[in-house]
Amino acid sequence: MLTKEKIDNTFAKDVLKGLSAQPKFLQSKYFYDQKGDKIFQEIMNMEEYYLTNAEYDIFTNYKADLLNLFSKDVEKFRIIEFGAGDGLKTKVLLEHFLNKNANFEYVPIDISENVLKHLVSDLENRFPKLKVHSIRNDYFHALDHLHDDDRDETVRNVIFFLGSNIGNFKKEEAVDFLKEIGLRIGKQDFLFLGTDLKKDPKIILNAYNDASGITKRFNLNLLERINRELGANFDLNKFMHYPVYDPQTGTCKSYLISLEDQVVEIADLNDKIEFEAYEAIHTEISQKYSVSELKEIAQKAGFGMTHQFYDERKYFLDSVWELS
Ligand code: AVJ
Repeated sequence: MLTKEKIDNTFAKDVLKGLSAQPKFLQSKYFYDQKGDKIFQEIMNMEEYYLTNAEYDIFTNYKADLLNLFSKDVEKFRIIEFGAGDGLKTKVLLEHFLNKNANFEYVPIDISENVLKHLVSDLENRFPKLKVHSIRNDYFHALDHLHDDDRDETVRNVIFFLGSNIGNFKKEEAVDFLKEIGLRIGKQDFLFLGTDLKKDPKIILNAYNDASGITKRFNLNLLERINRELGANFDLNKFMHYPVYDPQTGTCKSYLISLEDQVVEIADLNDKIEFEAYEAIHTEISQKYSVSELKEIAQKAGFGMTHQFYDERKYFLDSVWELS
């Protein structure tokens, strides 16, 4: 049983705000508790979730080119990874860079102590020679922290924001987020951004609506988390996982839809939430871009896209951005 003091206050407030709003919503960042982290691992291994393999292929095919690019004209570079997770894909690059005796260090940033602990101990076992300096903080605070270090132009920071994580932002929010990064880096630094591209809409929708129901479990885990952490009584059988994809805007949205009129109690918040039959909670956006849209966003955020790396099917793009 959770005691009141242990309740994440922000979580409680955000849940209440989202479920009292009209239309209802919950923030996708709350997918990732311990259980959600595990289900997301399963998603990354799914046949339908092409994103992970596509980016893995890009790293495997272009690791030598990436090393040349990152080390060009500097003595040393520093890979700063936002939301490192288990860093499976990044390990392909780290291994190659180590084999080539590159002068670099790896700085994984994550808000979760648990995630960082696992990642760092795995890296220590796998690559005893790798210089790792993890930072447990939010992204911008972590960057500010680095800023305090001696900064000189012989060192290049390369900010990794992979896996189409930028897709969880609306377009305008993405621009603001990228501007904030721009304020904290120098002219020799790079942003290395992984983005999912517009493609056959059926392929995209399938990635969020897999036949075995893994993504459904992922989405429903939000309600389970509210049950676990806030003493709510959501009946998961009374909600349906429902993703949609709009091929013009490139926005994939996921919903949880109430299958009947119902009232859910959230004991720890001393509150009741009413649902009408077929009322939806919006839980996630996964934005897809065309290359021209991305270039426009880069420009709006004060960057230029200087290098592009695609997988063979051109499903996914890892691009290098530099301050303009
Ligand atoms: C981790 C945000 C990139 O939006 O594709 C996967 C999360 N949600 N399946 C995505 C997710 C449903 C994922 N990102």
